[in-house]
Amino acid sequence: MLVNMKGMLDAANRDGYAVMAVNSVNMEMARAVIEAANEEHSPIIVQMGRGQMAKLAHPQDILPMIIRMAERADVPVCLNLDHGPDFPTEVSAIHNGFTNLMIDASSLPFEENVRRTRVITDMAHAMGISVEAELGHVGQAADGDGRTDDLYTNVAQAVEFVERTGVDALAVAIGTAHGKYPAGYVPKLDFNRLAELKAALKMPLVLHGGSGSGEENIRRAVAGGINKINVCTDAFHAAEKAMKAKWEAEPETDYLGIMVTAEAAIKAFVKDYIRLIGSANRYTFDYADNGSRE
Ligand code: 13P
Repeated sequence: MLVNMKGMLDAANRDGYAVMAVNSVNMEMARAVIEAANEEHSPIIVQMGRGQMAKLAHPQDILPMIIRMAERADVPVCLNLDHGPDFPTEVSAIHNGFTNLMIDASSLPFEENVRRTRVITDMAHAMGISVEAELGHVGQAADGDGRTDDLYTNVAQAVEFVERTGVDALAVAIGTAHGKYPAGYVPKLDFNRLAELKAALKMPLVLHGGSGSGEENIRRAVAGGINKINVCTDAFHAAEKAMKAKWEAEPETDYLGIMVTAEAAIKAFVKDYIRLIGSANRYTFDYADNGSRE
């Protein structure tokens, strides 16, 4: 069933688990992710960012297919625009059928982030679409951004931001970064800040840059109040690893064979992750509220 993100994450917030959001750039990935959720009886979020859509997953082509898969699923599936940068992208995402919008104005000054987020929230909520925004800034692992704590989310600002924007979920910066960390590096997360954010906001919180964080960090983040975890690099890596192994073991494997291998690997990875973050057997359609905080 296709749903927006509000009820899904409110349930996760109430019951203390997190839902996985996987950047899915083609049919095989989306199918692997949704089937994994189906088998684990878990809610799930399929998402894509603007760059991914431009390169690989043109929304006009791929969204109708994913919407069909979501509608046929036995579990709640949300389609999220990841890191929407501006108004035109958000409007076209609504037009294409996304059920949650992320507006990412996190590298702009606070007032501008508030202004842009408020506009998107008003528009989306009027259409039953939920909204995630970001405060503080989760940067790139390759640039060492996770280690720069002046980019971390400020608690008092976060309270003001949520009050003034009406967002349904807030992405917080607590030490992760997007993409691949240097070999051997495990990010150090600011769990004290997470605890303060959760105590002050009491709402669904989102962790971006889930990849490479390590199981212990992820477990503690969920226990500390994270309710949505974005994963991209690790899902690609699961497929790449399986494809390399398959070709090494069976060099004559053809295109079809390698695609099947990749899809199975992503599905197995997502199933494990769902269990790790506690959303297995948690699905419910008891979502009274479908997109508006007001
Ligand atoms: P990773 O590639 O580090 O998992 O980040 C994904 C993400 O946060 C997408 O918004």
